[in-house]
Amino acid sequence: MNKPKVVVTRKWPAEVEAQLSALYDVQLNESDIPMTADELKQAMQTADALLPTVTDSITADILSIEDKRVKIIGNFGVGYNNIDIHTAKAQGLVVTNTPHVLTDCTADIAMLLLLMSARRAPEGERLILNQEWTGWKPTQLIGHKVTGKTLGLIGFGRIAQAMAKKAHHGFGMKILFYAPSSPPQNIINDLQAIRCDSIEELLSEANFVSLHCPGGEATRHLINEKRLKLMRPSAHLINTARGDVVDSKALIKALKEGWIAGAGLDVFEGEPHIDPGFLDLNNVSLLPHLGSATEETRVAMGNRVLANISAFFAGEEPKDRVV
Ligand code: DGY
Repeated sequence: MNKPKVVVTRKWPAEVEAQLSALYDVQLNESDIPMTADELKQAMQTADALLPTVTDSITADILSIEDKRVKIIGNFGVGYNNIDIHTAKAQGLVVTNTPHVLTDCTADIAMLLLLMSARRAPEGERLILNQEWTGWKPTQLIGHKVTGKTLGLIGFGRIAQAMAKKAHHGFGMKILFYAPSSPPQNIINDLQAIRCDSIEELLSEANFVSLHCPGGEATRHLINEKRLKLMRPSAHLINTARGDVVDSKALIKALKEGWIAGAGLDVFEGEPHIDPGFLDLNNVSLLPHLGSATEETRVAMGNRVLANISAFFAGEEPKDRVV
């Protein structure tokens, strides 16, 4: 029997690519240059499985291409707002993602950004790199203490809960959260977490606000000018979710005019483009979407995709099916 044909849109960890090559008739992307819409359409017509990632925009146009051969889209990523999920469903396609395996590493990056922002780490590093540091001073780069402060999480899924654990058990932080539904009582008890009735309530009480909701139309600009104005002037905003959850222009204004003290961002509206307004600010910590970027996690993400498509081609239900 012929091996199923699989198209991988970006370069993956070598050990996962080797496994894919052993099992499938695979088209890898050695150059790692993102595929164009036309190339993605062609892949839809020539492959049995398309394995995109969060940087590939899998639009209705691509999904509705005539003479489609693809039956399963195995996304390399937990977030799948890069895929027009309604069209995928209407077209009878199976879509899978990679949950669980990136929870801790993404929570680590959220915690890292929280600490960087609170302790003004980027400003300190710039001082050294620009050879401007003249020595210790009692009043230099004074930040905010993290231990014992209040962390407010918007969205309270796996990554938010993992961050809350690190913050509560590691840094003695008080945990507030806002989410459409409450997690099991044992989790609430373990974290002594308090559920807020509104985003507004959380924003006005927290010293640190971390975003953990999915991207997409429903959450676009959830954090806007009006909501930023509710935050404390000493508060910090952390975003490791999706860039478009925050109105960048409003955040730049908030940071410039001191409505809030700082922000730590791993994701950006329209990334990899970054609003130049962020680049002139001292009080923003910027990372290039590193949430899941550890060797262990990226290999595990690849293996998760592999398990999903293997199940599909064996006629079984893939574990991480989202439609
Ligand atoms: C995801 O998986 O959704 C992250 O943004 C990249 O790992």
